Amino acid sequence: MESADRADRESTDALLEFRGEFPILERTNYLISNSLGAVPRATCDSLKEYDDTWATRGVRAWEEGWWTLASDLGDLAAPMIGARPGEVVFQPNVTTAHAIVLSALDLPARRRRIVTDAMHFPSILYLLDQQRRDGVEVVVVPSDDGIRVETQRIAEAIDEQTSAVFISHVLFKSAYVHEVASIAARARAVGALIVVDGYQAVGTIPVDVRRLSVDVYIGGCLKWLCGGPGAAFLWVEPELIRQLEPRITGWVSHRTPFASDDRLSRRDDAWRMLVGTPSIPALHAARPGLQLILKVGIDAIRAKSLRQTGRLLELADRAGYRCTTPRDPDERGGTVAIDIEKGCEVSRCLKALDILCDYRPGAGIRLSPHFYTSDRELDESVTAIGEILSTRTWQAFTTVRSTVT
Ligand SMILES: Cc1ncc(COP(=O)(O)O)c(C=O)c1O
Repeated sequence: MESADRADRESTDALLEFRGEFPILERTNYLISNSLGAVPRATCDSLKEYDDTWATRGVRAWEEGWWTLASDLGDLAAPMIGARPGEVVFQPNVTTAHAIVLSALDLPARRRRIVTDAMHFPSILYLLDQQRRDGVEVVVVPSDDGIRVETQRIAEAIDEQTSAVFISHVLFKSAYVHEVASIAARARAVGALIVVDGYQAVGTIPVDVRRLSVDVYIGGCLKWLCGGPGAAFLWVEPELIRQLEPRITGWVSHRTPFASDDRLSRRDDAWRMLVGTPSIPALHAARPGLQLILKVGIDAIRAKSLRQTGRLLELADRAGYRCTTPRDPDERGGTVAIDIEKGCEVSRCLKALDILCDYRPGAGIRLSPHFYTSDRELDESVTAIGEILSTRTWQAFTTVRSTVT
């Protein structure tokens, strides 16, 4: 691609004006938003506010804002998934949110089947697998190519014996976007619940829980919402929530939590799914990212993401690298996975060069541009991969062991 063409496109990339909000972009090529979004400059002030409140207001902080923060922040996340104010609450992480939902399912004897797919995030598969101990049949629909799971196969697995369906909106390895509306329609037709993990979706693709017609939608701020760890969120369809009786529960879901009742009297709204004290510092850390993404706008983010993931695919093709990411823009989320020999070592080498990415077996090196990424950074990352391979610099990283990459 001509550099003039590139410079031209960058000058018209209005979203680059937000780069100044992210200090780490001054020092690194940040292509890891599928894992940990860049921290906004404003997060430091938000955490300082948390500390100031604690230091000056002490226990009064609870009635002056902390107590309702899990749903106040939910109101910020709600527009990103097409939910209404009051319908979303924050949870400590996506796995726990799933566990709470699972604990609310009462599977009758003739409907002891749960359907999921082999490319769901492992943590959710572990949770579902544990249900087998209680006689639940867990049907895991396989993938033929390690990139997508055919909608038709999932639909065929959902039958009258199925109580619930668990899928990811965007697959964490390949960034394939599930046809959620079709799968939800099939689940609805047989009276099964559909629970969608939108962790790799919210913040990079538009989501509308009502248009998708799902029962439960779970997301989180760590990745595309630039909010750090400890801040996941849960939406349950408001009519359904009244019928749910989670076994994993606690005093925060009580109508009068400070009355210290012997018996649980559950709220009827989103707070019904809360358990214990919310992670207040994590919620403070998450707020600036949510505000920023709302300001940038999901449609603009998606348009840029499609263009830049398309560009990465093109660059990878030209270099002869295999990509495990869908070509069809409608099927593609925010990540491009490049599957090359020595991918793990190459990814570590890239990180040492301040090109931040990760590696997953079966997927490859995951590169995730976000609204703050320039085209030049994409070009540099693929060029760097070529240089690392041709100079065999990756060899220096064969003995480096990491527990988190
Ligand atoms: C799609 C998806 N679901 C769940 C998780 C795990 O989330 P948590 O650690 O918040 O439980 C991840 C983490 O990468 C993910 O990508």
